[in-house]
Amino acid sequence: MKQSKSVFVAIVLAFLNIGLSMPVTASAMVNPQIKKEAFGMTSGGESVELYTLTNANGMEARIMTYGGAIVSLKVPDRAGKFADVVLGHDTLDGYLKRSPYFGSIIGRYGNRIGRGQFSLNGKQYRLPKNNGENTLHGGDHGFDKVLWKAKELKSGNGVGLSLTYLSKDGEEGFPGNLSVTVIYTLTNNNELKIDYAATTDKATVVNLTNHSYFNLAGQGDILQHELMINAKRFTPVDSGLIPTGELRDVQGTPMDFTRSAVIGARIGQRDEQLAFGKGYDHNWALNNNTGRLALAARVYEPRTGRVMEVSTTEPGLQFYSGNFLDGSITGKGGQVYQHRYGFCLETQHFPDSPNKPRFPSTVLRPGQMYKTSTIYKFSVK
Ligand code: GLA
Repeated sequence: MKQSKSVFVAIVLAFLNIGLSMPVTASAMVNPQIKKEAFGMTSGGESVELYTLTNANGMEARIMTYGGAIVSLKVPDRAGKFADVVLGHDTLDGYLKRSPYFGSIIGRYGNRIGRGQFSLNGKQYRLPKNNGENTLHGGDHGFDKVLWKAKELKSGNGVGLSLTYLSKDGEEGFPGNLSVTVIYTLTNNNELKIDYAATTDKATVVNLTNHSYFNLAGQGDILQHELMINAKRFTPVDSGLIPTGELRDVQGTPMDFTRSAVIGARIGQRDEQLAFGKGYDHNWALNNNTGRLALAARVYEPRTGRVMEVSTTEPGLQFYSGNFLDGSITGKGGQVYQHRYGFCLETQHFPDSPNKPRFPSTVLRPGQMYKTSTIYKFSVK
């Protein structure tokens, strides 16, 4: 009797020991949940909500209704320690005052449209030029600066948030009433999935993406991150970052990420494309152009072991190495965002497609449904 009791105690102790030697933070199973709170008011007096999504592993995504932006994303490192891996601000005010699209939904047209114009069905449309001669990320008041209507969703394998917005005919110069739905789902596989959908009542152009700035170390510059992009070709640009129309082989250039390479290794090389972008700020033509979900990129941060895999149905990926960050923005927790403290991997159709008939089309017509999906999946190595 006494012996079996001590065996029992030994077994319990052994279990406790296993339990204690495991990273408590990452292994603790919690109930997936979604929490809503007030985040502040816009200058127009509209209230903004912040939603906190937590999955079964304790991974957490915070999304606000202003710009539909991802405000924070907490994921574990290889020791199970959580860190926020996206740039942004602690308060709504920070976003209203100055945000280079931190975490935002981008639309109606992600990236640039040359000379702020395009023609469709024989009609010419003029857009606000907010980036030199060109239109960037939907114009002066893109989808990153509008209020989205939120609805909480419970999915079988996680929690979700549905955001909707009606972009009126003529808004920022674009034709057609565009009804947009963006669904964020945080799965129990540590994936943040983004499903974009849109319909229109007049022919228009659409290119939606998300502009999160990642830093898998949670701090410092991103130059030691290792990046693989599943693309043999990219779209070279002119000095205004408008694609020339060419699809160029990456082989033998600093744009070659077909095999994982350290971001900082070639970024300072003397290269016309790097000079135009002030670093990496280019669109890669992904090998997968089937419209089905496939791996587009993988990023590894060696110090923390964090890995992020990006899968998408889109044909393009903008890799931007945070070249315009210059220390003039103080973000979350008082962090000063210096040069290249974050990078973006924006899944998309190619920039300036409305003026490049040979690029995959971004035209959406009445009766058609725009539908794309992107997954950011986190793990450790
Ligand atoms: C995109 C563009 C960049 C830059 C950032 C925002 O990634 O391609 O040139 O404008 O957005 O600063």
